[in-house]
Amino acid sequence: MQLNYQAIVIDDDPAVLESLAQWLDLADIRVRTFPDAREALPLITPDFAGVVVTDIRMPGMDGMSLLKHIDNAIPVILITGHGGVAQAVEAMKLGAYDFVEKPYKPERLVETIKRACRQRQVTLATSPAQQDDADDSLLTGRIIGHSAQIQTVRRQISALARVNADIIVLGETGTGKELVARSLHDLSIRRDHPFVAINVAAIPENLLESELFGHEAGSFTGAHKMRQGIFEAAHNGTLFLDEIESMSMEFQIKLLRVLQEREVVRIGSRTPIPVNVRVISATKENLRDAASDGRFREDLYYRLMVADIELPPLRERAGDIPLLFGHFLRESARNHDLPEPELSYEDLVALEVHDWPGNVRELRHTAERHLLTQSFSEASVQELLQLGSSNRDRHSNGEHSLSVRLQQVEKALISAELTHHKGDIKAVMEVLDLPRRTLNQKMQKYELKREDFIQSSV
Ligand SMILES: Nc1ncnc2c1ncn2[C@@H]1O[C@H](COP(=O)(O)OP(=O)(O)OP(=O)(O)O)[C@@H](O)[C@H]1O
Ligand SMILES: [Mg+2]
Repeated sequence: MQLNYQAIVIDDDPAVLESLAQWLDLADIRVRTFPDAREALPLITPDFAGVVVTDIRMPGMDGMSLLKHIDNAIPVILITGHGGVAQAVEAMKLGAYDFVEKPYKPERLVETIKRACRQRQVTLATSPAQQDDADDSLLTGRIIGHSAQIQTVRRQISALARVNADIIVLGETGTGKELVARSLHDLSIRRDHPFVAINVAAIPENLLESELFGHEAGSFTGAHKMRQGIFEAAHNGTLFLDEIESMSMEFQIKLLRVLQEREVVRIGSRTPIPVNVRVISATKENLRDAASDGRFREDLYYRLMVADIELPPLRERAGDIPLLFGHFLRESARNHDLPEPELSYEDLVALEVHDWPGNVRELRHTAERHLLTQSFSEASVQELLQLGSSNRDRHSNGEHSLSVRLQQVEKALISAELTHHKGDIKAVMEVLDLPRRTLNQKMQKYELKREDFIQSSV
């Protein structure tokens, strides 16, 4: 796998610097050399994507104090002179990545630098960006993602939360529809009132009416006591209606009436009860199509959809995968009080190549499984994903022929480089040695969009 390896090398001996620069250059590591640590320091910002290689003993600022001055997520490799091992061990305790003792084989240093670069890449890809768009901090902390699509979603939420409009949230399973509905509620003036969620598909048709609108005692067999419906329970707050595509035509008429009148009548009663409720509904189906096919009432559709928010499937914003995975890994490490496992570059590629039919929910479960299995096995993320997919019906390319697998690898490589170079097409053309036309064709074929990688933090 070809990566963008880069290193800042510091040594007060110009001859050493020059020969190191040549070696690393031959090994495809981009090098910048400095005779004095103080000169290098301004370049080693927290978002520096490479590693630092430094001599320990130097006039001015020595390797140890340099180590203390830079972000400890940046790998620092120390080169120690003869007899400097004790000091190097001290440096490791301070967070140095590794040390190499003189005299050393250049191959060994190259190997160490490359390993550190890969680790650096994983760290950057999975950690939250230093700063995001000047968005609501509540939203950025909750609805994770750098992709253009997710930024749009966050903007839509903050704009729509304050308006009292009914909203439809559209998206495949696990894309975050309920999360969006909750966020809309939490950012609205209704936030101190109830948020009530109900899955319309999970309730038998004959109970739906009583569940939503309530009933009086004795209004039907089994109705022993008066019961408030969900609309009443959500008064002044937000009602989340999940899977609305599953409502029967008859029920759609009843719901439409309630939404028009903004009052409910309990079963067995004639007294309308006014309800002040904002309805956010969710669906996996394109309701516009359902409405034009006559499977969903058009008038209800327009009632529910004063505005809509569409959530993209995870595979269409692969650039968000490392960040989300890192987030869930950290979260479940905290919850289970376990150390956060290290991810390898290969793990990241495996995550990006997977097609995530269960979207963010599947990703979250994978992160949790990865964390829990780490304590007793060495299974890589790739192995976990293969385990998960073998007992599930995969998409049409069932038998994983050689060509399918090659395509997956190709897609992963391009996606990884796009992530790494933040969507810089020229840089990707260079590292993959592809003409622009070919790269464009391949990106189209694999549905990789440059915009999705521009914001990525790697
Ligand atoms: N952008 C995101 N950032 C962080 N967590 C997310 C994001 N999107 C989804 N999640 C998490 O993924 C899981 C699934 O989300 P949610 O339940 O909202 O999906 P859904 O679209 O309602 O799924 P379903 O259609 O299956 O009901 C939740 O744990 C949610 O918190
Ligand atoms: Mg849901």
